[in-house]
Amino acid sequence: MKIDAILSPAELPPLVGRDLRDTVCVVFDVLRATSTFVTALHNGAKAVIPVAEISEALAFRQKKPGVLLGGERDGVKIRADQTGGGDFDLGNSPREYTPEKVRGKTIVSTTTNGTRALRACACAQTVLAASFLNLTVTAQFIRKLQPVELLLVCAGTRENMADEDVLAAGALGDLLIRWSETAGEPNREQKHSGLRGRPPHLKDTCEFSDSAQIARRVYVQAKPDLLATVCTSENARRLLAIPELRDDVAFCLRQDVFNLAAALGRDGAIRISI
Ligand code: MLT
Repeated sequence: MKIDAILSPAELPPLVGRDLRDTVCVVFDVLRATSTFVTALHNGAKAVIPVAEISEALAFRQKKPGVLLGGERDGVKIRADQTGGGDFDLGNSPREYTPEKVRGKTIVSTTTNGTRALRACACAQTVLAASFLNLTVTAQFIRKLQPVELLLVCAGTRENMADEDVLAAGALGDLLIRWSETAGEPNREQKHSGLRGRPPHLKDTCEFSDSAQIARRVYVQAKPDLLATVCTSENARRLLAIPELRDDVAFCLRQDVFNLAAALGRDGAIRISI
């Protein structure tokens, strides 16, 4: 499997012209869009529909009045003066997406970077919304798919790279390469019985591009104290300065708390895939 990475949102527009039919795209917007979507699905939301613009979200609700509108501009909930009507139902804090609010609901969301990054990948073989919250299960899902190419997409912050997205992309790459390296090793039972492990399979080998390698290296370096590293990032500093949003940072940095992979369907909705 070839593993490539888009580290900056400046690389997103050219994706539209790229043939992604054999590519699985994994989109990371750790602070906070993809962490929020995964939380919403875990808490019982039926689906999350990412859209780029506020006007698209409003048009959606005109057609389907039962949907909830969520998202942010400048990190905070979209207000009446930005919609020409009422406030959105939800902001983009994952802690707002409680079972009481979202169970059984479809949420239409528009955020600054995350929803745009997801839409930019729409032509891919599969598009996954990933975060630290569902990292390992996302990696397991990818392993089952065995794509020719895996593209790690870091949504970033406005026009810039975001440290936390690069770290999460690197963490996923690191998991996949560690699994591929041990694919031929005997497991504990096999060691006891003297049997060899599964022979390395061609598809189990991972070929990293330079950008994917950089993401992995950055992650391996930061791994001993990921939260402290992320707290110095632009996005985290912005959230930490807002009393009602500061806890979002630690919430989104927890690893493997939700056992679900989230995939964007051809109908434009993100749902639980496993
Ligand atoms: C985004 O999509 O840019 C973000 O998730 C921003 C945020 O949640 O504040």
